[in-house]
Amino acid sequence: MPEIWGKMPITEQPWSTVGEVQRVERFERGVELDCGNARVIISILAANLVRVRMAPNGEFSPRRSWATPVADEEWEQVPFELQETPEALELKTEQIRVTVGRNPVQITCFDQSGRVFAQDAEPGMAWRQGASANWKQIAEDEHFYGFGERTGLLDKRSDRLTNWTTDSLDYTALTDEMYQAIPFFMALRPQLGYGIFFNTTFWSQFDIGAEQYGVWKMQSQSKDLDYYIIYGPEPAQILQTYTQLTGRMPMPPRWSLGYHQCRWSYDSEEEVRQLAQEFRKRQIPCDVIHLDIDYMRGYRVFTWSPKRFPDPKTMVKDLSQDGFKFVTIVDPGVKEETEADYLPFEEGLEHDYFVRTAEGKIFHGYVWPGRAVFPDFLRPDVREWWGNLQKELTDVGIAGVWNDMNEPAMNDRPFGDPGKKMWFPLDAPQGPADEQTTHAEAHNLYGQMMARACAEGLERLRPNARSFVLTRSGYAGVQRWSAVWTGDNQSLWEYLEMSLPALCNLGLSGVAFVGEDIGGFAGNATAELFARWMQVGMLYPMMRAHSTTASARHEPWVFGDRVEKICREYIELRYRLLPYLYTLFWEAASTGAPILRPLLYHFPNDPKTYNLYDQVLLGPSLMAAPVYRPGVEERLVYLPEGEWYDWWSGETYQGANHILAQAPLEKMPLFVRAGAIIPLAPVMQYTDERPMDELRLRVYPGEGEWTLYEDDGHSFEYRTGAWATTTYRVHSDGPQTIVEITARQGEWQPRSRQVIVEVVGKGEQQFEDDGSDRRLTF
Ligand code: GLC
Repeated sequence: MPEIWGKMPITEQPWSTVGEVQRVERFERGVELDCGNARVIISILAANLVRVRMAPNGEFSPRRSWATPVADEEWEQVPFELQETPEALELKTEQIRVTVGRNPVQITCFDQSGRVFAQDAEPGMAWRQGASANWKQIAEDEHFYGFGERTGLLDKRSDRLTNWTTDSLDYTALTDEMYQAIPFFMALRPQLGYGIFFNTTFWSQFDIGAEQYGVWKMQSQSKDLDYYIIYGPEPAQILQTYTQLTGRMPMPPRWSLGYHQCRWSYDSEEEVRQLAQEFRKRQIPCDVIHLDIDYMRGYRVFTWSPKRFPDPKTMVKDLSQDGFKFVTIVDPGVKEETEADYLPFEEGLEHDYFVRTAEGKIFHGYVWPGRAVFPDFLRPDVREWWGNLQKELTDVGIAGVWNDMNEPAMNDRPFGDPGKKMWFPLDAPQGPADEQTTHAEAHNLYGQMMARACAEGLERLRPNARSFVLTRSGYAGVQRWSAVWTGDNQSLWEYLEMSLPALCNLGLSGVAFVGEDIGGFAGNATAELFARWMQVGMLYPMMRAHSTTASARHEPWVFGDRVEKICREYIELRYRLLPYLYTLFWEAASTGAPILRPLLYHFPNDPKTYNLYDQVLLGPSLMAAPVYRPGVEERLVYLPEGEWYDWWSGETYQGANHILAQAPLEKMPLFVRAGAIIPLAPVMQYTDERPMDELRLRVYPGEGEWTLYEDDGHSFEYRTGAWATTTYRVHSDGPQTIVEITARQGEWQPRSRQVIVEVVGKGEQQFEDDGSDRRLTF
């Protein structure tokens, strides 16, 4: 049955609900309630963070070593008041109130103005054989975002969204299960936003009013119910707390913010050298070349094809002189080769690292190398081994690893045969011996734990250089170890259109370093589509073009001079914006803020932004309104409250307005908020071509502030103080614009450079940057 028809209805057991509260026990972080056989624990972990747990039989599952959220004990204890009445109890923090009815046991939250949120709906918390669930009210004007990796548009109200990692290679706007499974979302209405992290790695599902209008439901195949309520009220605060709970990204190497070129595959040394030369010859900036599966010997992971890449070390070394970094793909499937001298298989077999079935047989599936076996990444010893295997790559000079097919993807027959997708049996044991579980609990973590093994291994192997890690599959918290790209999109306009809402929803799920395949993976882009995609791709936190083996070539120069020029211009714009972008990555690393943001992120009280999926903000200041249709050369743009500048012409517009923007193929409409300060670097052919000898600050008159973050871009020294921040402020004083620069903070010293302060529409002043404070008048 096609997936879009949905699943056949099956008769399921009725739900059992929690009985009347019989006993209340206060402990330092909350209350524990006995409700017949069931027990409920409500913990106050921060003034805006509440954890709710319900165990149907009174026994809570122990904490797992692979648990994503920070343990309760690690939160600094916060005060809360407890009040009991005959009908309910009430827990009150500095920000919210949580009431729990005694019979029925239902939870309701209130903000300080008494607005209700996350309120249980009938039947509240419930369970049945092998499942637990919770129902809550949807406010009439509420909208829903996040949910990890999703297709379609921005707001997920009326959708049913399953969390089960899947190789969804031919996804459409109606596809449910995707590569990533991140059981987190946020609900937003004017003045009030809250997030829900459903703390389960088992199969789970959100139903946002699809089954019953006005009610959302979450259910999981785990026996306990366990979720966190995060009060905002704004998305930024929700994300800050959510990423405090599940982790934040580390600072990436600066080169990974440059342009990445990929294809399945640049499959010989000669081809790779030519590709690199072409970029430099045509003066199209590029930092990274990705090597897809054909660099390997017969798709054996951690090998090199002696025929196609006889001397990869020299190739990497030579091209690194020219500024190129290399990223190689690694799949989890290890070729099963009992006779050959293939170490990853032999060692894995010897140490029993591969997933077995419940009957004790090593499990196998078919992937690129044919019959393959799969490491159990839930085990720390397996992760360590796998991490170290990457020495085969780092010894060659590889600077990043692209983890693919890690849902994990596999077939029951060799690839190319008419086989079926499959996964490990749900009862296959996984995890360390003292903590064993089954694949049912571990499935959604498989890709995440592979990415973790990779990131931790690379840090051991390259202790002085940040590495780049990319993964297709992941779970909540994936940002701690890896960037994410959205798998196999298609070279069609509708996929271009879906890419920004998809990346925005990932950003609203804590995953800031994200990208889509520019140009589309499957199929052939037209010149026009490719040009428009490159413009949009300039905004992707990871800017990588990629295409499948059967598609036409998708490099910036294959579509003729006009499109080549457009690609160059937008890639150059990306490189000029690097100081701005790098600061946004620092913000993501320190607060969990997304890099690419839907407008609702900064205008959460403006309902006009709630369904605005086709405009985005790159950081707080730059707003793009790209074109997603062939032949379109103008488009409607919504400018929220405030004053806006056209990036290209400097023209100003009053916000809370729609305008018609001109958008010939050469132009993606781009706007800047008044009061913005955008730091720009000179164009370079790669990020480290030379130190930034000139920093241009484009200041847009108004009230505003911007802190620029800098460090060496590649080492870990920023962790011990080798960073620098400089805060710039702008305001008006009568007809004058004043720009104030505060003294540089931190221990890192940029090399000597000119700073040009350009106040748009007024002129520029420059000075030699010595890190001291200044006041400039325009
Ligand atoms: C998968 C990946 C794709 C890659 C291909 C070959 O389809 O999603 O990006 O090129 O495998 O490795």
